[in-house]
Amino acid sequence: KLIVAASCALAMAAGTVQAKDWKEIRLAFDVPYEPFEYRDENGELTGFEVELAEAMCEELKAECEFVIQAWDGMIPGLLARKYDAIFSSMSITEERAERVLFSDPYYITPGGWFARDGFSADVTSKEEMEGKTIGVQRGTTMDTHATEEFGGIATIKRYTTAEDMVLDLEGQRLDVVFVDYPVGEQTILSQEGFKEVGAPVKLGQGVAVAMRKRDKELANKVNAALKKLKNDGTYDAIMEKYFNY
Ligand code: ARG
Repeated sequence: KLIVAASCALAMAAGTVQAKDWKEIRLAFDVPYEPFEYRDENGELTGFEVELAEAMCEELKAECEFVIQAWDGMIPGLLARKYDAIFSSMSITEERAERVLFSDPYYITPGGWFARDGFSADVTSKEEMEGKTIGVQRGTTMDTHATEEFGGIATIKRYTTAEDMVLDLEGQRLDVVFVDYPVGEQTILSQEGFKEVGAPVKLGQGVAVAMRKRDKELANKVNAALKKLKNDGTYDAIMEKYFNY
C-alpha cells in the first residue's frame, strides 16, 4: 500500500497522473492588440481571437476563462500554469517552438512599418535608417527583426504594450513603428496623418495557439476544433468581421 502511494506521489510530481478532460481551459490574451484582442466601447473583451476562442470553446464544450497577460510574460506565465493556452497572435518561431507546443496556424500576419506622413527614409536601408527611432513591442518577432537589421544603427525603443508604442508615434517620440500589419492598419492608418512605409515583412510561420509541451491532448482538441470552424464557415465569418482584406 505504501509503495503504491509513494509511486503515485512521484507520478503526480512528474505530472503524469493528470487525467485532465479539458472541460475548463484558461486562455491568455494581451490587450489591446486590435483587431486581435481589445475592449469595445463597453469595456467588453472582443476581437478576432476572442471570438475565435469563444467559438472553439463552444465546439469543445469547454468552459473557458480569459486571462489578461502582458505580452513579455506570455510564455513564462504559460509554463507557470497561470493559464493553459496563449491566444495572442503569437507567431510560430523555432525559438518559441523549443519551449511551447503550437497548434496549427490559424492566421498569417506580416510585420508592417508605419510612420507619420512626413517620414521619408527607406526602411530597408541601413544608411537611411541610421539615427532613426524605431518602436516595437518587446519580445515580438518585430523586435527580433528590427534588432537584427538595425541594432546599433537606429535607436530601438521597446514597449511593453503596443498601445504605448502607438501613442509615442502620435506624440512624435518615434519616427516609425514596426508592428503586426493588421494592428498598424487598424490603429495607426485609421488616423489622419499616418502612412504605411516599405513593404510588409514576412516573419514567423503564421499565428497559432501556444500550449505546454506535455499538453498534447489539448493541442489535438484545439486543432480539431479549429479545423471544424474552418470547414463550417465560422472561421471565415469571424475573420471578415475583423480584417479588411
Ligand atoms: N505576432 C507577433 C509575435 O508573435 C506579435 C504578437 C504580439 N501579440 C500581442 N497580443 N501583443 O511576436
